Amino acid sequence: MSISLSIIYLIATIAFILGLKKLGHPATAKNGNLIAASGMALAIAATIFIHDLQIPISIYILIGLALLTGSAIGGWMAVKVKMTKMPELVSLFNGFGGASAALIGLVEFSKNVGDKMQATTIVSGIIIGAITFSGSLIAWGKLNGSIKSVVTIPRYNTINNIFILAIIAFAVFTVSTGASDQAIIFGLLGAGLIYGILFVLPIGGADMPVVISLLNSLTGIAAAITGILYSNMVMLVGGILVGSAGIILTIAMCKGMNRTLGAVIFGAFGGTDSAAGTDKRLGSIKKTNPSDAAIMMNYANSVIIVPGYGLAVAQAQHVIHELEELLTEKGVDVKYAIHPVAGRMPGHMNVLLAESNVDYSLLVEMEDINSHFKNTDVVLVVGANDVVNPAAHNDPSSPIYGMPILNAENAKHIIVNKRTMNAGYAGIENELFYNSKTVMLFGDAKDALTSLVSELKNM
Ligand code: TAP
Repeated sequence: MSISLSIIYLIATIAFILGLKKLGHPATAKNGNLIAASGMALAIAATIFIHDLQIPISIYILIGLALLTGSAIGGWMAVKVKMTKMPELVSLFNGFGGASAALIGLVEFSKNVGDKMQATTIVSGIIIGAITFSGSLIAWGKLNGSIKSVVTIPRYNTINNIFILAIIAFAVFTVSTGASDQAIIFGLLGAGLIYGILFVLPIGGADMPVVISLLNSLTGIAAAITGILYSNMVMLVGGILVGSAGIILTIAMCKGMNRTLGAVIFGAFGGTDSAAGTDKRLGSIKKTNPSDAAIMMNYANSVIIVPGYGLAVAQAQHVIHELEELLTEKGVDVKYAIHPVAGRMPGHMNVLLAESNVDYSLLVEMEDINSHFKNTDVVLVVGANDVVNPAAHNDPSSPIYGMPILNAENAKHIIVNKRTMNAGYAGIENELFYNSKTVMLFGDAKDALTSLVSELKNM
């Protein structure tokens, strides 16, 4: 490799690391993304123009066409996607990453027969890439609601585990015998694809974000393996960064939900797809209106806002900021309580509130704010449900039992804004809505908050 290419790859690698570091805070995340993307653009350009690829001009034209088409489709998807649909897009992108690794493996297999080290890399890339591809497509289908089933057939996990062990044994056999038959490699590809489906299909409900993060990490590992295959440092480092960041995020999310990774993967836990309705056993609910809710908050000393997925769907981040500023002007102490899995993607609420210029110092993480609820006059829950569900503490039979929640139930008064009595993501009833301290402010978050703001302005 030429010196200039090595230097460019080094710059690209530094850009990835710097970009990843900057992604750690909402204020620098956008720049971080741009820096990492520039590093990637630099690495691609250098590979095409400086690397001595020894390929005919027609292949350069094909590469150019593929780059243009991919960039146009990716750019269009990224611009069009709604914030609430981001996890679906991430899932698709993960899948494409896995597919690329598997396809590279297929192309390279016949060229490297006999070299055990290369064959190991290629076969691993094909299997991991195939699992990531099909698993990500299933995750995408589950997130957008087109795949609903949560499979819980007896001994499902045992069968699954035997299947993956069989794939690994077959892969070891292929490499050790130096088998070169294309049928074998397509067989491994097919088995990987089937395992990806079987692996994600039983995982449901609140565990999906963890699975997506895990698949993201697998994409990184697949890319790193391809980096080893081509002795390409930038690809290797990029892959390792994605792989390790994905694992760290996966573990952080497991902690946020008080689940072990093993329980997520092998537990077939979570989502009933049915929505809950009014549950007579829990008692009755009390409704309120914007005027009464505004009076309650106007006379409060302290208000904690709990934002959730519904706030994002309603795009109510600007009006909630207006409400917070109005209350602060009136001398009320206002804070936002941020649950690690509120919304539909990691950091969803931070990103959303940053978009409307909410001061970061007002966003308080779950561990820090939980002890403050009991001294808080009013909690305003906006489009959040599972993250304030006391069943996580009280009901051992609940699928979210043990998941840390925001202790909104401890506040002196609770106002819950949502449109109906329907369930949240985990598909379960929420006793907080039936609490004697709770009043329900029904309506779309943006409309309800706009009415609250105008009522408060008149006080
Ligand atoms: P959810 O439990 O999903 O509850 C959101 C609530 O918002 C729903 O009950 C819904 O009730 C209400 N809503 C929907 N549209 C609304 C609108 N336009 N205006 C007002 N309310 C609206 O949300 P959460 O409390 O944020 O919890 C997040 C859940 O998603 C957890 O179970 C979590 O595990 C899961 N999850 C999280 C992630 C990450 S990493 N953040 C990724 C995937 C899944 P109505 O329909 O009655 O309005």
